[in-house]
Amino acid sequence: MLRTLLFQRTGIRLEEGKEYFVEMRLCSLATDEGFGSPTDVLEVLRTEESWGVLHRRVAECLAIAETSWFRDVHPFDELRRSVLPQLIQRRTTTRELRLWSAACASGQEPYSVAMLLREHFPQLVSWHVHLLATDFSTSVLRRAREAVYSQIEVNRGLPAPMLVKWFRKDGLDWRLRDDARNAVEFRELNLTAPWPAMPPQDIVLLRNVLLYFDAATRRTVLRNVHRVLAPDGLLFLGGGETTLTMDDSFEPVSFGRTVAFRPRPGVR
Ligand SMILES: C[S@@+](CC[C@H](N)C(=O)[O-])C[C@H]1O[C@@H](n2cnc3c(N)ncnc32)[C@H](O)[C@@H]1O
Repeated sequence: MLRTLLFQRTGIRLEEGKEYFVEMRLCSLATDEGFGSPTDVLEVLRTEESWGVLHRRVAECLAIAETSWFRDVHPFDELRRSVLPQLIQRRTTTRELRLWSAACASGQEPYSVAMLLREHFPQLVSWHVHLLATDFSTSVLRRAREAVYSQIEVNRGLPAPMLVKWFRKDGLDWRLRDDARNAVEFRELNLTAPWPAMPPQDIVLLRNVLLYFDAATRRTVLRNVHRVLAPDGLLFLGGGETTLTMDDSFEPVSFGRTVAFRPRPGVR
């Protein structure tokens, strides 16, 4: 039942051997939502209309939202060193840039981009830069919009000088500065449901999410990415996802120690 729910709702495959993980997550959901036990959650789930509030909560609590600042380092180094300088050069007439973090979890990925843009490309202040961040999970989006992170979370990948510069202490936590927070627009978007219309995107970060989908779902999602990418736009995947997911509608482009993907013209 849970496997079907998660797959239908998100495209995520719950593999065999994950029983302990599922039980832990359901236990904490039961406590948060005032149920006596995980079994009570399942009972109510069985009687709830399809895709009611509890269905959504269960799907969200079973999705892995692991993330960190400047995750994998190299893609961000190359964005700063070569990808963005080249892109900015090509967009000097329109002075518009669109970047999209699809599956943004609690916001570390799009906020890493926002800080990088502000630190290294001050000339963009007078440009129209749209930084969109989406996820299917409303609970991670709530956290992302809040932009308040625990000490453990800021310790994951955020260089100390950036912590000092971009965050202020808020009790035991750290609150991101408003200018970085306001640079990102968060929206709910399920990658496996029909996508809304979007203007062409220059950079799409689709990282560490395709690996949870089956081959057919990956293909559909990548076809949609191909459709929304500008012809000279670039797709970034997670470290282990490249060979796993790519078909011939994209061609790899190396930038230093990272590989991005450009849509091949004419392939749909
Ligand atoms: C492991 S996190 C990756 C976060 C970030 N991209 C990174 O690389 O650090 C995966 C995220 O994908 C989201 N997700 C899973 N299935 C999704 C779907 N069908 N549509 C949109 N987001 C989805 C989860 O909610 C989670 O926040």
